[in-house]
Amino acid sequence: MLDTDAWWRDAVIYQVYPRSFADSDGDGMGDLPGITGRLQHLQELGIDAVWLSPFYPSPQHDAGYDVADYRGVDPRFGELGDADKLIAEAHGRGIKVIVDLVPNHTSSEHAWFQAALAAGPGSPERERYIFRSSGEEPPNSWKSVFGGSAWERLPDGDWYLHLFDVSQPDLNWDNPEVRAEFLDVLRFWLDRGVDGFRVDVAHGLVKEANLTDWTTTSTILGGLDPAGPPPPMWDQEGVHEIYRSWRRVLDEYPGGRILVAEAWVAPASRLARYVRPDEMHQAFNFPYLDAPWRPAELRAVIDETLEANDAVGATTTWVLSNHDVVRHASRLGFPVGTPRMPGIGAEDPQPDAALGLRRARAATLLMLGLPGSAYLYQGEELGLPEHTTMPDEFREDPAWERSGHAERGRDGCRVPLPWEADAPSYGFGPTDASWLPQPATWAEYALDRQQGVPGSTWELYRTALSLRREHGLGHGSVVWQEDAFAFRNGDVLVLTNFGSEAVKLPPGARLLVSSEPLDGDGRVPTDVTVWATL
Ligand code: GLC
Repeated sequence: MLDTDAWWRDAVIYQVYPRSFADSDGDGMGDLPGITGRLQHLQELGIDAVWLSPFYPSPQHDAGYDVADYRGVDPRFGELGDADKLIAEAHGRGIKVIVDLVPNHTSSEHAWFQAALAAGPGSPERERYIFRSSGEEPPNSWKSVFGGSAWERLPDGDWYLHLFDVSQPDLNWDNPEVRAEFLDVLRFWLDRGVDGFRVDVAHGLVKEANLTDWTTTSTILGGLDPAGPPPPMWDQEGVHEIYRSWRRVLDEYPGGRILVAEAWVAPASRLARYVRPDEMHQAFNFPYLDAPWRPAELRAVIDETLEANDAVGATTTWVLSNHDVVRHASRLGFPVGTPRMPGIGAEDPQPDAALGLRRARAATLLMLGLPGSAYLYQGEELGLPEHTTMPDEFREDPAWERSGHAERGRDGCRVPLPWEADAPSYGFGPTDASWLPQPATWAEYALDRQQGVPGSTWELYRTALSLRREHGLGHGSVVWQEDAFAFRNGDVLVLTNFGSEAVKLPPGARLLVSSEPLDGDGRVPTDVTVWATL
């Protein structure tokens, strides 16, 4: 039976990137008490849930997506008791908490990998990972997502697979111990009260048994070729049984605990297989994130994803930004159709910031008008752009080094948030320290410059979230209108003007909110979204 009233079906879920949200102790790195101290603002914003990127003990070679202990909190972020406090405080404010689970790989500092190193070739300890002995040459031609070979050789001659950084060895999901361990990790956090898990690289856990050669390099969030068979390391049939077993565990707990797939899988009908009724609840809609700012493509991706999810009874999700992509306020400041780039540096072409923000506000209002569940990434509610001129010496993303500096990487979207215009580190923490430098122009984006200011991006998000709830848009449907990029969702008309001329609203339309002011004649200008009732 489908639970059509479940909280997550229409939820707006806000991604907190703990390193960069709020720093309580002034060391320049965000932490869990920092998050707890700022929950009040998220409540004011009107979101339903937070998803926390990893805060577990980690050497931080991939900003915490290299987990050394799945049941703890890294001292940089606090201690286990701080996680409990955060969960309790969030629940007290009516906010659900989703944590990140990274099952494809561990850190090379995880006790299991250390034991595998010590135990040597042929040992059961090595069976938990993907070790091969193939002499001087790597076992196959697979490439790491971050660049270079996906294999690393140990001094004893064995090679191990790492689809990401060399410090992120892939687990062997054919090993029952691995399966049992993650069921236990799920229970550990469910028992602590979390409302769900965002599952990292959910399409990667099972590898094709023969490890067939494959020379194409996959890119972060890059969809698979919808026409061809899946590559031997992604979207293998065996992953689904794993999620069915996890689902059975989640269903033992009350309150609607959820699994969210981060899976770079295409086409939409194939991704929908991750959210069949006995598997996960949601999957990120990256084709929507990647759709160009053009009405035909947007309409096509909206229709395709709604249809694919409806077919399996799942809710569709929408997302424009996260910690892996150039922020949409900057992406949309490039000429329409520019492919998403893997980071931006000072010498690269720069976006038009004003145009980017204008379109970003329109894109967000369009997204929040769609039925289903929407994901926001911290800072977008302030209209934050990417840091596109960060000096290269600060870069920490492993993709920067591993790609031989061909890719700037993801640091530009991970810069600590500005809360107070006139405070040290713009109020990120009590000192000037900030693990990545904040641009000098960020005072204008600070929360305290936007609160209560009509037309600010913060107030636009708040208004949209409250109207979305009031009009039940998350539970609605899309009915396309003729003559413009417009759809009806319940009693609300959502219209975006992609054309070069201002457009009129239908007679009798009553404006609810617009991403920019209407023109003097009450028409909708270019690159503006409005919500209206008829
Ligand atoms: C996911 C994460 C990304 C990380 C990668 C490896 O794509 O979102 O940040 O680098 O997995 O864990």
